[in-house]
Amino acid sequence: MKIRSFSYFFLFCFFLLNADSNGQVRSALDFNKDWKFFLGDDSTANQTGFDDGKWRKLSLPHDWSIESDFIKDAPATTQGGALPGGIGWYRKTFTLSASAKDKNVSIEFDGVYKNSEVWINGHYLGKRPNGYVSFSYDLTPFLLPLPQKNVIAVKVDNSQQPDSRWYSGSGIYRNVKLIVTNKWRFEESTLFVTSPFVSQDSAIVHVNGLFKVPGGHHVSPRLRVSVVAGNKIIYSNSITTDYITQSSDFNFTITIKHPILWSIDIPFLYKLKVELLNAGDIQFDVISTNFGVRYFDFDSQKGFFLNGKPLKIQGVCMHHDLGALGAAFNINAAKRQLKILKEMGCNAIRFSHNPPASEMLDLCDEMGFLVTDEAFDMWQKRKNKFDYHLDFKEWHKTDLEAMVLRDRNHPSVIMWSIGNEIREQFDSTGTTITKELVSIVKNLDPTRPVTAALTETFPERNFITKANALDVLGFNYKDYDYSELPRRFPDQKFIATETASALETRGVYQMLSDSNRIWPPNFKVQDTFSANPDHTSSAYDNTYAYWGNTHERSWLAVKNNSHIAGAFVWSGFDYLGEPIPYPKFPARSSYYGIIDLAGFPKDVYYMYQSEWNAKAVLHLFPHWNWKVGELVDVWAYYNNADEIELFLNGRSLGIRKKTDTSLHVMWRVPFEAGTLKAVSKKNGKIVLAKEIKTAGASNRIQLLADKTNLKAGVNDLSFITVKILDNQGNLIPDADNLVEFKITGNGKIAGTDNGYQADIVSLQSNKRNVWKGLALVIIQSTEKKGNITLTATSPGLQSASIILRNN
Ligand code: GAL
Repeated sequence: MKIRSFSYFFLFCFFLLNADSNGQVRSALDFNKDWKFFLGDDSTANQTGFDDGKWRKLSLPHDWSIESDFIKDAPATTQGGALPGGIGWYRKTFTLSASAKDKNVSIEFDGVYKNSEVWINGHYLGKRPNGYVSFSYDLTPFLLPLPQKNVIAVKVDNSQQPDSRWYSGSGIYRNVKLIVTNKWRFEESTLFVTSPFVSQDSAIVHVNGLFKVPGGHHVSPRLRVSVVAGNKIIYSNSITTDYITQSSDFNFTITIKHPILWSIDIPFLYKLKVELLNAGDIQFDVISTNFGVRYFDFDSQKGFFLNGKPLKIQGVCMHHDLGALGAAFNINAAKRQLKILKEMGCNAIRFSHNPPASEMLDLCDEMGFLVTDEAFDMWQKRKNKFDYHLDFKEWHKTDLEAMVLRDRNHPSVIMWSIGNEIREQFDSTGTTITKELVSIVKNLDPTRPVTAALTETFPERNFITKANALDVLGFNYKDYDYSELPRRFPDQKFIATETASALETRGVYQMLSDSNRIWPPNFKVQDTFSANPDHTSSAYDNTYAYWGNTHERSWLAVKNNSHIAGAFVWSGFDYLGEPIPYPKFPARSSYYGIIDLAGFPKDVYYMYQSEWNAKAVLHLFPHWNWKVGELVDVWAYYNNADEIELFLNGRSLGIRKKTDTSLHVMWRVPFEAGTLKAVSKKNGKIVLAKEIKTAGASNRIQLLADKTNLKAGVNDLSFITVKILDNQGNLIPDADNLVEFKITGNGKIAGTDNGYQADIVSLQSNKRNVWKGLALVIIQSTEKKGNITLTATSPGLQSASIILRNN
């Protein structure tokens, strides 16, 4: 009793020091600003007194590779995006606030590509080879109090190439935070919220975690847990912990009556708060997380169910770059990608082949996407000479745990993937490693299924499935084997972890559209294959790599096999690197995307939209500028209608209907200038009509911003579409004009692009040729408020300008 009173007194005294000047007991400070950067190596740059006066000043996230021109002989090769790696150093000098005295201070890196080494005030904190995982260091023992300065130095070594598949970027390319807490605090990564029982009437929610008090004090703090729905506290409860000295687990069981279930249509999030208090209700620490109440199952015959209802997984694979921004994470760019996918009817994302930025998962929670979070693209056997196989042995446990611990409270995450097309699939080490990896995951999260993206569909040859440890078997491609899977793998659950690998360049149309091309046709010629001299691939869905299939046939195979829970199309967006079918420079980014690198949908986007979303769709293509008499294949994707009729200059060219084996309709039409019009009808009534007109001469530039009001100081972005139009407002379908962008006011050009896979002008250039009439310019807000004016000029064209507000 005596000791207890003493500890309350001690707790009270401690409180006098425990809140910072904002009254916060825990702060996660944005630590992205005011860094110094040097591209090159200097072994003395880790020392406190080092003079970084001449280094470049910048804000994170930062990717130095994307700042370069594309390079023909880049060591990363075109597979890595034909951009340079190298060694770079970052330094940041900072003072602690007075309130941080006697606090615990740590630094969190969400991702540094790669081999980062960190020093604080000359003390070595450690190395992290993996460039895709999050990690942190405790700075507390080495920090100097106000007014002294502290220096953090980070060396990043991405010099050994070829490495990652695909473009990795280089540098501190995700957010950095400084976490300041009291000594008596929660271990935030231990917080784990699960919903072991969920029904429409009630849900049981478990909350576990760990908190720490510094050694030597005997205390019995109180813990209070509360749940907020909307703005309302719907649950609050507290417990006094047992008498502890160092650290202790805590567990709460919460009942939520009539829960609002998290789903892809209503991604409802509850907010959980856990407080560490003394007897007088004074806070020592507080942690919080969003969580969702939902349940799901995979059924070996019927596929996937969310909250008891069948749901086909309509997903895409996403590599981590953000087009012209490279790997430098920007939440606004990520949000734009997800919005474009959501509009298509996409409900799921496989982050291939590594965990994404943590904010990306926040967005998936908020916007309603199901996520497969993937840890590795290789284990001990390499795919590239300098890839993670070199680090797997020493680091796989730490890295896999880091992924699960960081991401396990996201309701969007429904599966962990322990690897993609792992070479160990083909020998007995695959069995041992699979068992080990699955047990690492299950130990930290027994609630979610574990999968892997496999290629071997015969059980006797697949040493990963022989482990009998995966909950869901993921297969890449091999759609011709789908119907055989239940017989070969009895009672197993299945998902198509990759489909399609079809190849398209936006705006390119080659006849005949109804004959398929396999590019490259086999693995023997894939390193030298070359088809179109301009490195393009037709946007009719008729071209695919030899291991893949058309989008249409791939989706039909998934749709027609109910035991396949769904698909992740390879890929949602084009990404930097892997320019199959053109392995050689100047091709440098992928052709697989449903959406191009600039974020412009290719035509096949509307095929998925017509299948995946409920709203009426009618998409007619190609453009209507051809040689007189040329035979042009006119395609349409549509839904919610029985038939579609095509008219050329008012004359009907006939009615077409989709069939069970074809998701588009086609007319072969001798070209004549004028207006092409398609009309979709249901029960004789018009659902939608679409027109395309022959464009005249190029006349003017048009700028269309996705938003004109930006927020200052938060790296806000406006994505501006640049169009070349004739004097009637028709897009010029083959325009390739060079457009120059100038900006005045409080913004900067963060990147430009046109989606063409073989454009070798730096993605940071302020000049860009439009591709097939379109280009993109990305404007970033600065710290300073005020208007931004963007002007676009091009010889022979009426220029355009647009004003954005930076508030
Ligand atoms: C898969 C691989 C992906 C990508 C894709 C392209 O085999 O997992 O990373 O290379 O093929 O078709």
